[in-house]
Amino acid sequence: MDRLVIQGGHSLRGRIRVSGAKNAALPCLAAALLTPEPLVLSNLPAVADIRTMVKVLQALGTEATLEAEGDGFELTAKLACAGSDDPKAPYELVKTMRASILVLGPLLARFGRATVSLPGGCAIGARPVNLHLEALERMGAILEISHGYIHASVKGRLKAIDHAFEKVSVGATENILMAAALAEGTTILRNAALEPEIGDLAQLLVEMGAHIEGLGTGTLTITGVERLHGCEHAVIADRIEAGTYLCAVAATCGDVVLDRCEPEHLRSLLDLLERSGCVITEREGQDGRQLRIQRECGQKLRSKDATTLPFPGFPTDLQAQFMAVMTQACGISVINEGIFENRFQHAMELERLGANLRTDGRAAIVAGPAELTGCTVMATDLRASAALVIAGLVAKGETIVDRIYHLDRGYAGLEKKLQGVGARIERVGGGKV
Ligand code: EPZ
Repeated sequence: MDRLVIQGGHSLRGRIRVSGAKNAALPCLAAALLTPEPLVLSNLPAVADIRTMVKVLQALGTEATLEAEGDGFELTAKLACAGSDDPKAPYELVKTMRASILVLGPLLARFGRATVSLPGGCAIGARPVNLHLEALERMGAILEISHGYIHASVKGRLKAIDHAFEKVSVGATENILMAAALAEGTTILRNAALEPEIGDLAQLLVEMGAHIEGLGTGTLTITGVERLHGCEHAVIADRIEAGTYLCAVAATCGDVVLDRCEPEHLRSLLDLLERSGCVITEREGQDGRQLRIQRECGQKLRSKDATTLPFPGFPTDLQAQFMAVMTQACGISVINEGIFENRFQHAMELERLGANLRTDGRAAIVAGPAELTGCTVMATDLRASAALVIAGLVAKGETIVDRIYHLDRGYAGLEKKLQGVGARIERVGGGKV
């Protein structure tokens, strides 16, 4: 098993190009199930979750190829879904990636039946799929859960609904948005999630011929069509990847320009980092928007509180990385996790590196600045791993981050991008450390 070996204490300087957003790419890939025509998706990050989703689509009767773009950090997928007699998303794939549940809505809408494994346990919280299932049932789906699978069917087409989600859910909004695009009648989705990744999926669906109004608001109105067609679409920049590198510079100090990112998607983090003392500038580059972050070495960081909330609030997917930054800030920072009930597993590992913090239910209290010293750490999920890399870049001496398959699920070329800005970080095969 690979590990990352980091020699901490070096500032970061240079440029990093941000890859496409994993969490936009996954629902966009699932949308390939909505049409028999070819769909070409570019700017997909070259990460394990993208390959898993392509395998899920192949298991569901999709011809799919993945080709590397430019420097290999992004991929283009060419997809065409003829369908299969028995569309089934198997446990072996779904258990490795919960986003596989996103195939349920499109399959039901286009083929009238689907068998999808229930995702099972998760390291960051219970993460049920009740919101997805309740809305599909209201659209006329007949659902039966047996032997660990959701067996779903519908007589004729799914029917439009006027539906208010009980809770804001990114995945449920995406699943039902795709289902409604091919349903009979006009669906109204209230309390829909506002995350930029939903905007990207909706944009793709519109390019495929869907009728969607209310983009960028919490109420989406979708008038179903009988068929959707193929198109070419480039997914948006990954705000969480960009935010992770911003946190890395804030924690270690340095001066880095992020190319091809969208500052509007990162307002809550930019605001916190600016208020804690980092200098952030935005400008239009040749290749999209750019963000520059500067924190001169020796310049003190101020502690700030943060609470994770649905967009445009502070993202739960940056909570762990921000906590790593706050270990270096002067004063007390209280970080509340408002989305998931068990997303502080990085806290104990940060403590092992020397962070001064404690957790209490959904709050973490971080006292800084703490002198971090390298050791071996391991993480339980993707963003927790990213936080440990950031802490390792700060820590004196050598830090080994174990179980980096979590990182490989969601960050394209993380160590190469960090090496490019001066980090001493290396990937080493399990046997060699
Ligand atoms: C998406 O997960 C992201 N994944 C997550 O990113 C992200 O953390 C999360 O949204 C919140 O922003 C993808 O986009 C592939 P939710 P999702 O449904 O859709 C509860 C990462 O690190 N809920 O918005 O699964 C749920 O338990 C990952 O890249 C229900 O109660 O999240 C949670 O408390 C991790 N019932 C809250 O809603 C449901 O049916 C929000 O979850 C569905 C969700």
